[in-house]
Amino acid sequence: MSKHKAGKRHTLRSLARLETPIVALTAYTTPMARLMDPHCDLLLVGDSLGMVVYGMPSTLGVTTEMMIAHGQAVIRGSSRACVAVDLPFGSYQKSPQQAFETAARVMAQTEAGCVKLEGGEEMAETIYFLTQRGVPVIGHIGLKPQAVHTHGGFRTVGRGSEADQIIKDADAVVAAGAGAVVIESTVEPLARALSDRLPVPTIGIGASPACGGQILVGEDMLGLFTDFTPRFVRQFGTLAADIDKAVAAYAEAVRTRQFPGPENYVSASGIKTEGA
Ligand code: KIV
Repeated sequence: MSKHKAGKRHTLRSLARLETPIVALTAYTTPMARLMDPHCDLLLVGDSLGMVVYGMPSTLGVTTEMMIAHGQAVIRGSSRACVAVDLPFGSYQKSPQQAFETAARVMAQTEAGCVKLEGGEEMAETIYFLTQRGVPVIGHIGLKPQAVHTHGGFRTVGRGSEADQIIKDADAVVAAGAGAVVIESTVEPLARALSDRLPVPTIGIGASPACGGQILVGEDMLGLFTDFTPRFVRQFGTLAADIDKAVAAYAEAVRTRQFPGPENYVSASGIKTEGA
């Protein structure tokens, strides 16, 4: 069990002291955050919300305004988990200064505990710039969904010579000050080796059971987002089927005038109807 003090919100630093693997999920809304918060150490307001919530084909169309609105919603619904907010595509890659301006807006307007950004060696200078100025950062290496077109699709990375670059990326983001590193969709031995090597927690998604923690997209894990299910997802729930059943029952009840029932309306309203 975690030694974390009850009633206190986790920070990126306190996550590193957990004695059990970090339990992380993405969350985008207040009600979902409320349900996840008692069980999770880290809630990520991931830019995956572009695909999961807004039906976009990738995360590239997500804006900083969207991340701030959903970050505020998740903060309102949580009190225990550390909340991280993704910096979206185009909001931080231009320069360390641009990244700081975006991160400062996100942190000030959401009160999130840290930001996450994708990138390896090429983002090290930016991560250093942020962490030196009071912005805790989670790195994100391996498959980087914002670089889906350069990767050539959503695929497993880290085979052969790709592994050398990913190791360099991991070392660079940690040397720059990242307090944890998400490793996405790599071959397992590489994620295991990185988890052994790095002095900060690794958080795996399609990576390795040896990572310091695991993260999944909440809607994938709950069986709510079923457009496609990557191999690394385990569905712990069947919410899409449950919702389908509930909505079908509602439709049937409305069409047969069984809803609303007497318990759902006020009969002694005092409203005069014509001729009464
Ligand atoms: O945006 C997201 O949901 C993520 C997770 C896949 C780690 O970055």
